[in-house]
Amino acid sequence: MRVFLGALFLVFGLFAEEPIAFWLTWQNSPETTMVIHWLTPKEEANSRLYFREKGEASFEKVEGDHRLLPQDAPYYVNSLELIDLKPDHTYEIKWEESVYKFKTAPQNLRNPVRFIEGGDIYHEDIEVVAAMNRIAASCDPLFAVCGGDLAYSCSGSNRNMEKAERWIEWLVCWSKTMLTQEGRVIPMLPVIGNHEVKGRGLKSPSQAPFFYHLFALPEDQGYRSIRFGHYLTLILLDSNHTNAVGGEQKEWLKARLKEGNTTYRFPIYHVPAYPSHRTYTRPTSVDIRNHWVPLFEDFGVTAVFEHDDHLYKRTYPLRKGLKDPNGILYLGDGAWGVNKPRMAKTSWYLARTASIRHLFLVTLSYTGAKIDVLQENGEIFETLTR
Ligand SMILES: [Fe+2]
Repeated sequence: MRVFLGALFLVFGLFAEEPIAFWLTWQNSPETTMVIHWLTPKEEANSRLYFREKGEASFEKVEGDHRLLPQDAPYYVNSLELIDLKPDHTYEIKWEESVYKFKTAPQNLRNPVRFIEGGDIYHEDIEVVAAMNRIAASCDPLFAVCGGDLAYSCSGSNRNMEKAERWIEWLVCWSKTMLTQEGRVIPMLPVIGNHEVKGRGLKSPSQAPFFYHLFALPEDQGYRSIRFGHYLTLILLDSNHTNAVGGEQKEWLKARLKEGNTTYRFPIYHVPAYPSHRTYTRPTSVDIRNHWVPLFEDFGVTAVFEHDDHLYKRTYPLRKGLKDPNGILYLGDGAWGVNKPRMAKTSWYLARTASIRHLFLVTLSYTGAKIDVLQENGEIFETLTR
């Protein structure tokens, strides 16, 4: 999706109407940019909002872009990208009455950076999602990564149409709950899963129209990396949904991993290489172990986040298909908002599993990465360090 930075105007009133839902994300530097998306009814294309650096006296008007949602869903998604922002700074945005804050990423880890990671979100009950979101927001994370199967818009017997209302309900819930106590909006970094795609198996991006309409993505490409200063790279991958695991994506991944030079880096994708519920011989799991895992092992990653199997898992550190104390930890398996977490199977590579809803809270500092596994009662199930 293209996003526009429009002209800026000083204004003294006449604010734009409140959107139905809004969400923030990044497609470029998290230190100096922010993409803002918001939904308005079809009758009200409204691509302007107002923003200011916190502490400034007046708001500036900014114009973005808008386009209709697919499948004649009666909404516009409005988009704009703010650029040339200051790192580690707080800004305010305003439509009609409510003022929301957002924050750019810091350039370094002088203060620890926290983020939330999880997947398989709006499965059945939106109240379950809301409760988990509130736990996530209470941790005051800089951002949250959503590891696929966000709204289950392609599910049930008819997978040839997306359920637009599922996206709307999920985004409305996100707008209301992914706010910190001080009213700061938590940006999301979405990853594609199987329930974002019409039909079954590997399709083209045109078969995931809502995913590609709703989020700023580079040239409709489902995989990308986001770099935070010299301290963090997130490698967000497409596990055979709209891009094949091998081929171009594999070459792209190799090039990204070769670049090196951030202290921490996490590959994140939907279908697990090391599943906790489904079979080890599932074709996409085999593909990932053949194409991506050797690259993770050759070039090094901090840990890997996987999803789709709907329970908590931690593997043993793994290398070359064996337990190895110097190997890579695979964490998953997607149970942010599922209605009933599944039971685990037993396998040589699974060190710990639990049939629980959970989120990962990752805290990065100069001394290491701490990963807390948050449960739905807000308590920590276990803490890992890397
Ligand atoms: Fe899934």
